[in-house]
Amino acid sequence: MKPVCLVIGAGAGIGGNVARRFAQEDYHACLCRRSDEDGLHRMIEDIENEGGSASGFILNAIEDNSIEERVAAVEADIGPIEVAVYNLGAQIGDRALKDTTYKAFEMGWRLGTFGLFRLASAVCPLMEERGKGVILVTSATAAVRGNGGQHSHTAAMAGRRMLCQSLNAEFSPKGIHVAHILIDGAVDAPDTLGKMLGPEKFQQLRETRGMEHDGLMLPARIADTYYHLAQQHRSAWTFEIDMRSFSDRPWWNH
Ligand SMILES: NC(=O)c1ccc[n+]([C@@H]2O[C@H](COP(=O)([O-])OP(=O)(O)OC[C@H]3O[C@@H](n4cnc5c(N)ncnc54)[C@H](OP(=O)(O)O)[C@@H]3O)[C@@H](O)[C@H]2O)c1
Repeated sequence: MKPVCLVIGAGAGIGGNVARRFAQEDYHACLCRRSDEDGLHRMIEDIENEGGSASGFILNAIEDNSIEERVAAVEADIGPIEVAVYNLGAQIGDRALKDTTYKAFEMGWRLGTFGLFRLASAVCPLMEERGKGVILVTSATAAVRGNGGQHSHTAAMAGRRMLCQSLNAEFSPKGIHVAHILIDGAVDAPDTLGKMLGPEKFQQLRETRGMEHDGLMLPARIADTYYHLAQQHRSAWTFEIDMRSFSDRPWWNH
């Protein structure tokens, strides 16, 4: 039976590429996303065409029990979840305080923080029983830097970062490796950044900063680091790592 890599939030950017990277290394990848069934099937097909194995699920992470039920079903029907990846973003674009509704703020918290709490509540007991497991959490600059217009996003992502620390404190001695992975730059991610900018602006950005310029972070290369983190020896675990393209200024320099 193959070990399972479960990805919550698997679009064509980081999530799908992390799933693909683990599938290349003989994990069974389980990809979960909210909508776009066709996109999900395309990613599964790509993985299978490379000789990997994968399953895809439509799941809305903010619905009650969606994550918990998916974890239970994957464990029962596919195999033990060795690596759980929490990749949901909580970015809603810049909004002044007066334009940030209570509902939007709460949604940010649900996606940014509470969903990870629910995933951890579901997988940690299973991993603890097995004495091993890896939880990889994608994060953003907003986890370490507040900014005008980012009230909901920064609160949610900083909460996510602190939750990772407390999970690490409780579960690292029990053999569970938690890593907080701070993505400090724009990613070549059509399903998130692409949709936020719209096709024209996104293509323009790709042409000016992305593609051969390597100024947009390539999700397949980000995924290499996720795989590396999951393979680290427990005598030398990374808890926190940040990544950006060579041409981006790091968050603390601007
Ligand atoms: N993209 C960037 O420039 C950037 C920059 C810094 C940090 N990040 C971080 O990177 C992570 C996202 O990676 P990515 O941007 O490369 O995106 P991605 O992996 O291509 O896609 C993420 C997927 O999450 C799914 N999703 C959103 N809400 C969901 C929900 N309620 N339930 C289930 N699935 C849901 C979406 O599915 P559907 O498409 O089906 O709705 C989307 O395709 C986030 O943690 C974000 O904070 C991204």
